[in-house]
Amino acid sequence: SIPLVIDTDTAQDDCVAILAGLLTEGADLRAITMVAGNVGFDRQVRNAYLTLNAGDRLGAVPIHLGSRRPLVRPWVSAENVHGDGAGGLDMDFAGLEPETEHAVDALLRLADEAGGELSIVAIGPLTNIALAVVKRPEFAQQVKHLVVMGGSNNARGNITAAAEFNFYVDPEAAKIVFDAGFHVTVVPWAPLTLQQAVFGRPVLDRIAAIGTPLSDFFTRVCSSTLAFDESVGIPGTTHPDSLSVAVLLRPDLVTKSAQYHVDIETGSELTRGYAAMSWGVHGLTPNATVVEEIDAPGFEAFLLGMLATPTTPP
Ligand code: BDR
Ligand code: CA
Repeated sequence: SIPLVIDTDTAQDDCVAILAGLLTEGADLRAITMVAGNVGFDRQVRNAYLTLNAGDRLGAVPIHLGSRRPLVRPWVSAENVHGDGAGGLDMDFAGLEPETEHAVDALLRLADEAGGELSIVAIGPLTNIALAVVKRPEFAQQVKHLVVMGGSNNARGNITAAAEFNFYVDPEAAKIVFDAGFHVTVVPWAPLTLQQAVFGRPVLDRIAAIGTPLSDFFTRVCSSTLAFDESVGIPGTTHPDSLSVAVLLRPDLVTKSAQYHVDIETGSELTRGYAAMSWGVHGLTPNATVVEEIDAPGFEAFLLGMLATPTTPP
């Protein structure tokens, strides 16, 4: 089995990503670590509990609270896209207490415990991962595989013209992570997600027709993002975070990838968080694998199969 941690700013597709980490055969989800990103920090924690509850695993996976803001800059939210990130779902949160150990310490401990076998899927701003490196530079070598959702490799952003949200929110953290020497795979926003991981109405109808509590959960948590996406001309909900989990657990779904030197813009306001993805012609030593194409029907089947899992949330 694959021991992994999901580092997340839990809202919408982060919830689906956690479900994939929980329910995919062969995945051993050891912890969820929370980082400031999409929606209010405490709301994100609630969304993670809602997700564990939907997956029938409340109490089975520890939640560690991490960075409540980016390293240098004020927090920027994506509440205009995701609403509360869980489609208004609610439950009784009484008695649910996250771990007292900080997320960064948990990451370091879990890396030690896994003896070189731990993988991390980082689907929010990279603040926690950067702090782990700052605290212990060898952390980068201890992690078997870091999959990062962020950036674009055609300069098309989703929060500014130049930048994707996760790298925009904490560009200094992203720069630290790409300089650290991880074995890292990047799942970019564009063109990959926009072309191959958007679920339009026909797929969403197929998901609704599955008729499980998990498919209902999916429809709810994606509702706000669907409305936003359609209002800006994206023809469906976007799934870069669950795709990042799939890239780790189902590498056969990656049909094209290439080596790049990835660096992050921190100096300019106009291009803050821009991911410069240099290929061979620029003569820089590669530091990351960037996913360029996936088996999109295979990814859809992966998620739909997962959503068909019977659960009986209270
Ligand atoms: C990323 O930003 C968030 O809104 C999503 O959760 C995803 O991780 C896409 O830019
Ligand atoms: Ca995310």
